[in-house]
Amino acid sequence: MQQHSSIGVVSKMRMIKWLNGVVLTPDQTKLPLQEVTLEIKTVDQMAEAIKVLRVRGAPLLGAAAGFGVALAAYHSKAKNKEKLFAELDEAGATIKSQRPTAVNLFWGVDRVLNKAKSIKGDVEEIKAAVIEEAQKIADEDAAQNHAIGRNGSVLIEDGDTILTHCNAGELATVEYGTALGVIRAAWEEGKKIKVIANETRPLLQGARLTAYELKRDGIPVTLITDNMAGYVMSEGLVDKVIVGSDRIVQDGVVNKIGTYSVAVLAHEHGIPFYVAAPKSTFDLTHKAADVIIEERKPEEVTHFGTCQSAPDGVAVMNPAFDITPLKYVSAIICETQVYYSKDFGLFKKLR
Ligand code: MRU
Repeated sequence: MQQHSSIGVVSKMRMIKWLNGVVLTPDQTKLPLQEVTLEIKTVDQMAEAIKVLRVRGAPLLGAAAGFGVALAAYHSKAKNKEKLFAELDEAGATIKSQRPTAVNLFWGVDRVLNKAKSIKGDVEEIKAAVIEEAQKIADEDAAQNHAIGRNGSVLIEDGDTILTHCNAGELATVEYGTALGVIRAAWEEGKKIKVIANETRPLLQGARLTAYELKRDGIPVTLITDNMAGYVMSEGLVDKVIVGSDRIVQDGVVNKIGTYSVAVLAHEHGIPFYVAAPKSTFDLTHKAADVIIEERKPEEVTHFGTCQSAPDGVAVMNPAFDITPLKYVSAIICETQVYYSKDFGLFKKLR
């Protein structure tokens, strides 16, 4: 994978782009210290980028999945449709096998594969349609996040301090962010808000990415370690919590490990707990019990970055996500509307 430094690559712009058979996206493992643009040219490079979280965040994974299959289409030398479909299916399976929890990854692959199979034309027309559909996923995600921001900003009052967990910002989406999209929209409307960012152990998406984005944009942000959330709430320092999601099922919200603890704390302190996510993250045919929680490697827990912080051989658990039961969720903000807790019964009918 080619990499080059590019100062200012991460700004208010597209986090993923297709340029003549190359996918350009920031390498999020390098932030905040280095701004490096990845040039992803093959399905295997895309798979690796997804696996090690160079590309991460549910909506961005949806777009990356589409572009991953588009890379297979772009490079295919297949002379007939059967061969092309076999190659696209294989690429889709490779992309899907990298991470099990964020539904957008599966949704993005299936959307471009279904498009390919709906085309009546020849091999070249199918290849073009796949690339176009992947681009459409990215364009739609960008627009949806701005709509989520507009819909959610009505819930934010001037002077609010909002706690967020992980990174549901520009970096986790094609543009603007979901939870941070709501915060950005409220800020752009002139509301004087402040953000408290949980650092989000073990991979520090809050410290490395959320703090980076907000600081860059001039939105006041204070970083805390995850175990400080209860204290700041008990001190009356938090008015609202907003997080993103990797999968919304009939009875719960799947998001970064630690979200559930924050939701329970918010409930205990009477603080509204909001989830912001596009409809592509809704998976209403499933329940919490059906969700596979990604288990990542022990070194992420035994080490702090590259520095070992636990004894050799200690037993480790490293679930990357948890599930917050809907009883702790005050509202879910999506691109078409805000679902309040009284509407959650609808989720069983919407599927
Ligand atoms: O493991 P990650 O960094 O991909 O996890 C990301 C999250 O949990 C985000 O909160 C979620 O994807 C929502 S992003 C808009």
